[in-house]
Amino acid sequence: MPDFTIEPYRWPKAVGHEGWDDWVHFAEVRNAGLAVGGEHLQDCSPEFLLGDWNDAGEARQLALVARRDGEIVAIANSGQDPATEDLAFSYIRVLVHPNHRGLGIGAALLDALEALCLAEGRTTVVAEFEVADEPGPTIAAASGAGAVPAGAPGVRLALSRGYALEQVDRTSRIALPVSAALLAEAVATAAAKAGADYRLVFWQADAPAQWHEDLARMYTLMTQDAPTGGVAMPEMPWSVDRLVDELAHRVGQGMDWSVAGAVHEPSGRLVGLTELAGLPADSGGTGYASQYWTYVDRAHRGHALGMLMKAANLLRFQVEHPGYHFVTTQNAEENRHMLDINEALGFEPFLAQAVFQKRL
Ligand SMILES: CC(C)(COP(=O)(O)OP(=O)(O)OC[C@H]1O[C@@H](n2cnc3c(N)ncnc32)[C@H](O)[C@@H]1OP(=O)(O)O)[C@@H](O)C(=O)NCCC(=O)NCCS
Repeated sequence: MPDFTIEPYRWPKAVGHEGWDDWVHFAEVRNAGLAVGGEHLQDCSPEFLLGDWNDAGEARQLALVARRDGEIVAIANSGQDPATEDLAFSYIRVLVHPNHRGLGIGAALLDALEALCLAEGRTTVVAEFEVADEPGPTIAAASGAGAVPAGAPGVRLALSRGYALEQVDRTSRIALPVSAALLAEAVATAAAKAGADYRLVFWQADAPAQWHEDLARMYTLMTQDAPTGGVAMPEMPWSVDRLVDELAHRVGQGMDWSVAGAVHEPSGRLVGLTELAGLPADSGGTGYASQYWTYVDRAHRGHALGMLMKAANLLRFQVEHPGYHFVTTQNAEENRHMLDINEALGFEPFLAQAVFQKRL
């Protein structure tokens, strides 16, 4: 008889409300489960995590937990974009606390999560998780670029359940502060190439209203334009209303944001953006900031705007938000344009992210 139970999980409505102590354990398991190679890149406090869950369109979030002696030791969830119409697609995740691994909990939880997804009509599931490099055989991505260690527990579990490794993303990092001279030079070189038609604008968590329409357009295009390997990525539409809600959420949640945008002067439109954000220590952050979206409109590619925005934004972020140790960024191994920019700035490969997909 297994000495664990698996059950549906409902998170508290607000900090301190019913179920709060359980949620604190849930957040601990999440942080410990996401740590890779001893590095805590994604830690956050239970308060911060709850804000994220309650804002993420809760109707589309399903969760399970495994308990031993009543205490949460493993968590699993299936999430959907709040605005997508493709309700058959979902991201899933299974995390077992390191002290409770190798006991059959992960496999049982994944089986239960698949059954739940199937019952809800979520028939395409995608699991993304980071793995540290290790010696031994590797599995190549179906996309043709990148590989992950075949012996990593998550990889073995996914393969044993019939998942296909569609894509491998590279997680790279750069130590802060980056040489200001190097960044300034990168900005100057890129600005010379971009020419007088473009200028940079910056903001923090909130974006000026004049750019909302262009931002909503670019957010919608981003999920379609970035390489996704064989992942059946649904359209995730962004209306201006959804964007305004997201910006309000960002302001309320208290992350340190720096966003750079590229304005095309002749048309007055915002045609590119790049976003950096870090979680302050008092919200559970561990000194890692992350690169979020970078996008340049198709009609404006080839003018060094990606490099211009990224170098300028990095320079600005480290001045406005000192105290972060690293910036991490994730790019598909086949996304050579973006990797070239990041490598030129000094980002170095750090971890691999496996993107597994299964049709249930
Ligand atoms: C992957 C993970 C969920 C496995 O949880 P677990 O409770 O330890 O796994 P189980 O004991 O149920 O074992 C299930 C399978 O995982 C793999 N596995 C478990 N421990 C392993 C280890 N130390 N080395 C290699 N594979 C391992 C095996 O395939 C195992 O099946 P097998 O015993 O028939 O070979 C857990 O290691 C974890 O949380 N890792 C971090 C997050 C992650 O990678 N999630 C991936 C799924 S979305």
